[in-house]
Amino acid sequence: MKIIKSIRQMQKWADGQRRRGKSIGFVPTMGALHDGHGSLMRAAARRCDSVVVSIFVNPTQFGPNEDYARYPRDAENDAALCRREKMDVLFMPTAEAVYPEGHDTKIRVGRIGEVLEGAVRPGHFSGVATVVAILFEIVRPDVAFFGQKDYQQTVVVNRMTRDLNFPVKIVVSPTVREKDGLAMSSRNRFLSAEERKTAGVLFKALQKGKERIGQGERDAAAVRDAMTLLILEEPAARIEYAVVANLETLEEVSEIKERVVLLLAVRIGRTRLIDNLPVRP
Ligand code: PAF
Repeated sequence: MKIIKSIRQMQKWADGQRRRGKSIGFVPTMGALHDGHGSLMRAAARRCDSVVVSIFVNPTQFGPNEDYARYPRDAENDAALCRREKMDVLFMPTAEAVYPEGHDTKIRVGRIGEVLEGAVRPGHFSGVATVVAILFEIVRPDVAFFGQKDYQQTVVVNRMTRDLNFPVKIVVSPTVREKDGLAMSSRNRFLSAEERKTAGVLFKALQKGKERIGQGERDAAAVRDAMTLLILEEPAARIEYAVVANLETLEEVSEIKERVVLLLAVRIGRTRLIDNLPVRP
């Protein structure tokens, strides 16, 4: 596996692949890799001739009071995981290379970036869209892989790719879960042993919501209340949002007439966790 830090070298390697007629799969990450990322890498390897994984903790998607400084960084283990998954390139650009002095261009994401995560984390999706666009331009992949765990991010990236005509196919892979259903996330490592037990409540709540819809409940408020009540049983959990939303616009629905997505953001201690579940009535 090649480790590339320079943008120029990354572009040269990708140009070479394209000249040889080889397709490029791309898995953009912020590192602290786990098996959720592993599953994206395997999906990319199955579909493409070569795979590039990027690790870049993107400062522009963190708000001033968020966890940019303490976001987990674990370059050695990350490189080992990429090697085990037989990745071709690990691309690790520096912040100075991605955002050189004077960098002043940002992608403004519309309404889709302002609801839910975007309302709690203003500017977050502009940062995500901007860095994904920069990385797409450097790697120029044929196919890029994102995890469904960050559901709103997948909607934003799909929209941006379509609106800006990036010649990239976006593949969204299912969320990988621990035994108790907790969605794998780099931030799970912040949870204490006690908090880790509590964190299983997110998936339980999503399943409760799905169960209610399966039983014929069509009132979104009743489904939302069922999820909320279950989470409230855990004193250490603080709900930021629990919603039943349209799959594409992420606007909350009042009546469940077609496929919807249940979305949760819950704080357990100092750690903020998100999860989601698309459900067909
Ligand atoms: O999902 C992530 O890890 C990040 O938001 C991404 C897509 C790599 C952009 O920084």
